[in-house]
Amino acid sequence: MQADAKAVLESLATAVLLTDHTLKIVYANSAAEQLFSMSRSKLTAYKLTDLLDKGQKSLLESIQLALKPHAQGFNASSIEIIPEPHQSIRTDIYVSHYSGKGRGLIVEFRALDYQQKINQEMARRSQHLAARDLIRSLAHEIKNPLGGIRGAAQLLEMTYGRQEHLTDYTQVIIEQADRLKSLVDRLLGPQRPNPLTLCNIHYVIEKVLSLENMALKTQMPIRFIKDYDPSIPEIMLDVDAMQQAVLNIISNAVHALSEAHIHHPQITIQTRAQLGSRLINGIKYPSALITSITDNGPGIPENIRETLFYPMVTSRPDGSGLGLSIAQSIVERHNGLIECDSEPGRTVFRIVLPLRKENLKGRED
Ligand SMILES: Nc1ncnc2c1ncn2[C@@H]1O[C@H](COP(=O)(O)OP(=O)(O)OP(=O)(O)O)[C@@H](O)[C@H]1O
Ligand SMILES: [Mg+2]
Repeated sequence: MQADAKAVLESLATAVLLTDHTLKIVYANSAAEQLFSMSRSKLTAYKLTDLLDKGQKSLLESIQLALKPHAQGFNASSIEIIPEPHQSIRTDIYVSHYSGKGRGLIVEFRALDYQQKINQEMARRSQHLAARDLIRSLAHEIKNPLGGIRGAAQLLEMTYGRQEHLTDYTQVIIEQADRLKSLVDRLLGPQRPNPLTLCNIHYVIEKVLSLENMALKTQMPIRFIKDYDPSIPEIMLDVDAMQQAVLNIISNAVHALSEAHIHHPQITIQTRAQLGSRLINGIKYPSALITSITDNGPGIPENIRETLFYPMVTSRPDGSGLGLSIAQSIVERHNGLIECDSEPGRTVFRIVLPLRKENLKGRED
């Protein structure tokens, strides 16, 4: 392909695939890599028909017809594309014939769900940031007088001596002030982030799984399945904070599994480098590191799905609803995001972190 034509295709926001006369994909632009969450090299190992639901007979026929010399192109709306199991994209497609040195099809995709998903993601993110800022400023306002209240109770104790009937009251004030302070501290999150160091995500996960003091110690024999991509490069991480983020997600899965008394409870932790450009928080990165934590529990309760990452959203009587909000803030500090898909029997939290080209030296692109 000519360099100019290629540059034009690369800068299109529309996903475009080119096939040869056997329908083998010979080229995919960056928007296609992003739409299908697959690298160009992976996409070009497929035929166009591999991506389509085999039940769509008339579409498959139209595609074959479009291959014929001098054939007209065609449009089809609301086509279901299944690039990978559990992934389905609904899109309009525009198919046209090309011929020259070779012949084949040009297929453009306008993914309705995808655009909607991006818009929803952006809207959710700005709502989340607004809610978080509001809660942070409230927490600050509460924290300041708390010190004064606690100090005054201590002064009362000192002034009036240790008279039992008085210390009962002052102790309540001190205890409750301490309780509120620790809640407020959690709401405010880590004040001074640690410096970033080069670290492998598997180290972080292993550290979490081996932690003794955490909720993973349950009565239930939960099966942990590790599916690591060993070639994942090290990236710059605030290791302690990222450990906290992973721990919050895993302990939620453990809680969900234990409370629902699932028969064969299991949590799968998978890591993958997703090659091919990827939009994260509105910024395009050459590739991403995806850590998925999947459990076979009951799923996220319907009534909190929309506000899942907001602070103080919880369905547990003893939950403070801060775990996911803190995890999201930590991952965002690494320019990443956490996604969630949930249905009864399968809940996935995906930590998506940007990977830069230099992290990927030595890997195929
Ligand atoms: N894997 C999961 N399966 C089912 N529900 C989940 C899962 N992860 C999170 N949730 C739901 O999301 C809610 C919010 O989680 P989050 O970690 O923010 O708070 P929490 O666990 O309730 O309290 P804590 O602050 O102690 O973590 C949970 O109360 C639970 O209802
Ligand atoms: Mg939690």
